[in-house]
Amino acid sequence: MERDACDLDFETAAAMLAWQVDLGVLDVVGDAPLNRYELEAVAPKPTPVAAPPVVVEAPDPVAEARAMAAAAPDLETLAEVVADYPHCELKRGARNTVFCDGRAGARVMIVGEAPGRDEDMQGRPFVGRAGQMLDRMLAAIGLARDNPDITRAVYITNVMPWRPPQNRDPTKEEVAMMRPFLSRHIELAAPDLLIVLGNTSAQAVLGKTGITRLRGTWHEGFGLPVRPMLHPAYLLRNPAAKREAWADLLDIQARLT
Ligand code: URA
Repeated sequence: MERDACDLDFETAAAMLAWQVDLGVLDVVGDAPLNRYELEAVAPKPTPVAAPPVVVEAPDPVAEARAMAAAAPDLETLAEVVADYPHCELKRGARNTVFCDGRAGARVMIVGEAPGRDEDMQGRPFVGRAGQMLDRMLAAIGLARDNPDITRAVYITNVMPWRPPQNRDPTKEEVAMMRPFLSRHIELAAPDLLIVLGNTSAQAVLGKTGITRLRGTWHEGFGLPVRPMLHPAYLLRNPAAKREAWADLLDIQARLT
């Protein structure tokens, strides 16, 4: 039975101390005795394992665009979702998100490239000089963006909803991240055919560029007949090319009758 040090009489305590000195004890390191055999029986504390580093996944802009676009049940929601999309740098420099003009439900859907200065100011596609040229081209085959007769109306959008700085061409990455929205836009607008204007639009819809080679014939994109055409801004700079545009317009008119 263990005894408290206070229970010892002087002689016993002195004898125990002398016995310890005989054993070679030089210093007293604590007041209470320590049973080191018991201490060893206690399992050593495990070394704490460092928590695995938290890996913050970089967002995938294209995957996010796909998910956001797929969740939009109608054109109004899609317009809001596009305006909220955070990964395209062009948005920072733009005044407005340019989503569409004309009549949803029209047989013809026109896909332009990106807003210019006038479109950025007004928030509508093709309202500047190129837009006026486009309206004249459409009128030549009896179409207009707001024609009350839906069979003679058109619906218009751009691949990019934001104006690029200095009207530069959008990069391939910018086109790729906005393409899911374009795909959903076309699905919801459900036209009979697409007209793509210029190389950026051909890239987004057909996955090909080289508009002068692509024009003049029908292609397929997003499950629809696609007619690539020279961009009206190009026609303003190269009036001689209007002949080719006229030929394309006549083919489109024939397809609609
Ligand atoms: N050019 C385009 O491609 N789209 C516009 O909206 C205006 C000019």
